[in-house]
Amino acid sequence: MQIKEADRQDFLTKQTWKPDLQNEVLPTNGFGAHTADIFNSAIAASAIAALFDLGLFDELQQSEAIRLQEFCEKRELHQPAILMLLYTLACFDIVTLSPAQDLVRPGKAFAETCRDKGYFLWLVRGYGYLWQNLSDLVKSGKGNFDSVGRDGGYIAKAGRDYGAQFVDAYFTEMLYQMPFKVAADLGCGSAMRLINLAKQNPAFHGIGIDINDGAVKLAQGAITAANLQDRLTVVHADAGRLQAQPEFAEVEVLFCFFMAHDLWPRANCLKVLQQIRSVFPRLKRFLLSDTYRADLPASRHVPIFTLGFEVTHAVMGQYIPSVAEWMELFTEAGWNCVERREIGIPFSAIFDLR
Ligand SMILES: C[S@@+](CC[C@H](N)C(=O)[O-])C[C@H]1O[C@@H](n2cnc3c(N)ncnc32)[C@H](O)[C@@H]1O
Repeated sequence: MQIKEADRQDFLTKQTWKPDLQNEVLPTNGFGAHTADIFNSAIAASAIAALFDLGLFDELQQSEAIRLQEFCEKRELHQPAILMLLYTLACFDIVTLSPAQDLVRPGKAFAETCRDKGYFLWLVRGYGYLWQNLSDLVKSGKGNFDSVGRDGGYIAKAGRDYGAQFVDAYFTEMLYQMPFKVAADLGCGSAMRLINLAKQNPAFHGIGIDINDGAVKLAQGAITAANLQDRLTVVHADAGRLQAQPEFAEVEVLFCFFMAHDLWPRANCLKVLQQIRSVFPRLKRFLLSDTYRADLPASRHVPIFTLGFEVTHAVMGQYIPSVAEWMELFTEAGWNCVERREIGIPFSAIFDLR
């Protein structure tokens, strides 16, 4: 089907072009199609992740406009490629480009995209290999935690960003309900929670525990950069197989953010939750936060993150428990859940276990 020049002009000026359904066998040739939206959104997701990684969002938050040439020269970037990424963002009203295409300004959806950019980095850089190899990884026995090529460093970096937007205020408000001096963070990722606590409290000591090399390196680098090596350490270990050791003896509060589902199947998670008290003998409190299974009907209105979270974990063969399943497990493991607080990430809560 040929698009008539008048129709093309109509689309460009009013963006109202509709295919002539009565006279055409194939309805759209792309313009206005439902699939065009899906296709362009996939490209925009990658463009958001890349431009976040390259510092565009930080810079545009600080200044009202960015000179494209300056931005590219400072970072040694290929200007025509960056212009196309910005054009992609402009298609979704995230930025605007000046008529000469030399100045970039925030668009109507800039603030919202800035807030949500961590989810895109998580999706595209954290799980890029999984999306690229999906048809292979869904063959029986192929998809698992190790085979899907997760990038732990990027998952940690993304978590730091969306954690700051959607988690940290709830977390600190709950944490400071009881005094504490020593804490450990299971699956600490970038260790940003421990670093923030150490910056706020000069007497605070913390231990981060993570299974992933990339996350451990990122955490150690961030601790050194903040000059907190004397009060914060990172242990490279599997939280599901921890043994008591002298440095764990003083831990009073344990947190575990967005990794407890990795400890399932249920029987394994039950064992870990029961044994954790002997690994940390002075433990008073366990703040466990996770995204739970949404059980939503199929619809285009599924919120951000939920679909990505549930699909990636299904491909890795990992079970995502519902809230009811978590609550039942806490009780069986001997923990009293005194509060369940919903946080800013869809279908996610902090459980206060005592
Ligand atoms: C989604 S990230 C969350 C990171 C951090 N807690 C946050 O909120 O930003 C999950 C982290 O848990 C780590 N992890 C997963 N399974 C683990 C295990 N069995 N033991 C220790 N760390 C684990 C991953 O390497 C990753 O850094």
